[in-house]
Amino acid sequence: MSLKNVIAIDGPAASGKSTIAQRVADRLGGYYISTGNMYRAITYFAMCNGLEMSGEPDAARMDGILKNLALSYARDCKGKLNLLINGDSADTEIRSPEVAKHVSKIAAMPNVRSWLIGKQRDLALLGLVIMEGRDIGTVIFPDAKYKFFLTASPEVRARRRLAQAGETPAGATVASVAKEIAARDEMDSKREIAPLKKADDAIFIDSSRMTIDEVVELIESRIKGIPAGN
Ligand code: DC
Repeated sequence: MSLKNVIAIDGPAASGKSTIAQRVADRLGGYYISTGNMYRAITYFAMCNGLEMSGEPDAARMDGILKNLALSYARDCKGKLNLLINGDSADTEIRSPEVAKHVSKIAAMPNVRSWLIGKQRDLALLGLVIMEGRDIGTVIFPDAKYKFFLTASPEVRARRRLAQAGETPAGATVASVAKEIAARDEMDSKREIAPLKKADDAIFIDSSRMTIDEVVELIESRIKGIPAGN
C-alpha cells in the first residue's frame, strides 16, 4: 500500500528543497518538515553540551546527550510547525556556519539516525506532510506515493546558499561555498547508513535553469489524488 499523505523531497545541500517543499505545503495545505533541521538541532545541542567535534564524535557520549534532548514542534498562528529544542526555539542557531560544518558528521552516526527514525515516521500521523531531506524516499518513507529528487549544479547551489543571510561565514565566495557544499554532499552520499540517494521511483528534477514557480508547478502536476489538506 502506498502512503498517499506523504510527499518526499530529497536532494543535496542547497538544492532548493526547503523553499520548494514549503511552497508545495502552503499550496496544498500540508505540513512542511525539514529533517535537515532535526540533524542540525542535534548537532547544535551536542556542541552546547561539549561533544568534541574534531575527529570522530564519541558515540557513547552522544547517547548520553540524546537522553537529555527532546525535539518537539509548536504550531504557529498560521499552522506552521516550528522545531523546538527542549521547548526552546533555536532557528537562528541551527542555521549557523559552525553547525553546517559539523552536521554531516553527526548525521552519519548510527545512534543519531536510529533516534530520529521513529520520530520522523510519526510525523506522518499529522496528515498531509511534505518532508524534505536525504533519505525520506529511500528509508523513512519508502512507501510514499510521491517522491522527488531535487538537484542543481554546484555553482547554482553555491549562489543560492550565499543568498541566504547568516548561513555562510563572512567573506565567503561562490568558490568557497561550492567547496563546502561539495564536501558535505560527499560525506552525505558516501556514508554507510541512509546515504543521500535518489529512490528508484523518485522523479528527478534538475532545477539549475528553473524558477521556483516552475519547480513547484512541475511537482504539483505529478501529484494526483492527494487527500484534502489539514
Ligand atoms: O538539508 P540540510 O542542509 O539542512 O541538512 C543538514 C545535514 O543533515 C545534511 O548535511 C545531511 C543531514 N541530513 C541527513 O543526513 N538526512 C536527512 N534526511 C536530512 C539531512
